[in-house]
Amino acid sequence: MIETILPVIYLLASAGFILAVKWMNHPATARRGVIIGEIGMVLAVVGTILGVEANYSLIFLGLGIGAAIGIPLAYKTPMTAVPQLTALSHAFGAVASALIGTAEFYEKAPTGFTMAALGTETFLGFLTTTASIIAFAKLQELMPGRPLTYPGQNFMSLGTAAAAVILVAMMVFGTPAPWMFPVFIALSLAFGILLVIPIGGADMPTVIALLNSYAGVAAAAMGFVLDNRLLIIAGALNGAAGLILSIIMCKAMNRSFFNVLFGAFGQVAAGAAGKVEARPVRSASPEDAASILENAQSVIIIPGYGMAVAQAQHKVRELYDILTKKGCEVRFAIHPVAGRMPGHMNVLLAEADIPYDKLLEMDEINGDFPNTDVALVIGANDVVNPLARTDKISPIYGTPILDADKARTVMVIKRSMGVGFAGIDNELYYMPKTQMLFGDAKGFVAGIVKELQGGH
Ligand code: TAP
Repeated sequence: MIETILPVIYLLASAGFILAVKWMNHPATARRGVIIGEIGMVLAVVGTILGVEANYSLIFLGLGIGAAIGIPLAYKTPMTAVPQLTALSHAFGAVASALIGTAEFYEKAPTGFTMAALGTETFLGFLTTTASIIAFAKLQELMPGRPLTYPGQNFMSLGTAAAAVILVAMMVFGTPAPWMFPVFIALSLAFGILLVIPIGGADMPTVIALLNSYAGVAAAAMGFVLDNRLLIIAGALNGAAGLILSIIMCKAMNRSFFNVLFGAFGQVAAGAAGKVEARPVRSASPEDAASILENAQSVIIIPGYGMAVAQAQHKVRELYDILTKKGCEVRFAIHPVAGRMPGHMNVLLAEADIPYDKLLEMDEINGDFPNTDVALVIGANDVVNPLARTDKISPIYGTPILDADKARTVMVIKRSMGVGFAGIDNELYYMPKTQMLFGDAKGFVAGIVKELQGGH
């Protein structure tokens, strides 16, 4: 009976996954996309459990342990730590497929095509595991976010990967010697570490998207090993989506995709990192800021990670309403890597019901800054740092930025002269036209709103 309905369940699950990817393309349909993806996953899991003859108590024990870890983790993680959580989830998924591959290797001693698929699965699985753990540690600041580089780094990384691939080839075309598979596992784990340590924190989003893609390809290869079509479809979708996302992000950050692929792009010197010079800046109060905004005809708001930390989006909405009512044109400039995850600012501003058509991407709005009265930066730093254009030794050199410095007046809300994610000082703060508005984003915007309402 189950053999007859299993293909139908798998077909419905696949349709769910495809619709999920499609709907997650736009904020308006993203929620629906998540729900249909979850329904697809429930169908896939239930169908697979019913379709196999196995030790059910072990399967339910595994499901129970996984749920006991996963549910509190998802509820307790703040929005600002979602990238770390994503990195950790990739590590969990990748280690699962790598361990299944290892079990299949020792149980079935595969040859030829199946061994090649198994080699791909375990190589990508193990390397994604260690790479994701390092990405997690960098994002969680358990280890330095700056690029860790050493002489002969590319030779070392590519040599490790090549040795692992040669071992797989030897196992595909000959009889594996007992030492081969363990050495292959060690090389794959080592390659994951070598891949991510030279990459600076500011480039981590692209790496996470790529690791997502690797985990997907590992799952698809596992589908070939286990002869499971749904895994092939889901893995291929995941692999392609992750790949497309990392290419889009590479373009947005002006990074070479080839370098990301081989972990070579963190080689820019980190010498400039961490230094904040004691230079004079102009600072202003909420009253000063309110009077500048009161007289502005056009304002571009640039939200960043600090807006997310402060949860200032609802106050920002109030500011938007007041200024718009006064006849000022208010728009939002969204940098593709503002915050800590793709679409972070869009999610927050959508939560505060800011109309989608007021949210403009970098390419759409950058040309308008020179004709704008005020660029109001709220908790953003790296994405408006003009050093990205000029300072060749800066870790963000070459990253396209929002041209806030070209507006007539610049106002920056942040708590201190502290650095952003890339750990570098920001030239924007020292420009004669810049006013620093020191304070928590939510509190400061509330102060401006109060002033604009007449101090009540
Ligand atoms: P950042 O450069 O990280 O700067 C955020 C600024 O917000 C900090 O300088 C901080 O200054 C300020 N801040 C923190 N809490 C605040 C609060 N409560 N109120 C007001 N200000 C506060 O942020 P960004 O400009 O959005 O750039 C994002 C960075 O993260 C990029 O380097 C990007 O590559 C990286 N990254 C992005 C992603 C994705 S996909 N978006 C993922 C990982 C990493 P004070 O401490 O002085 O307040």
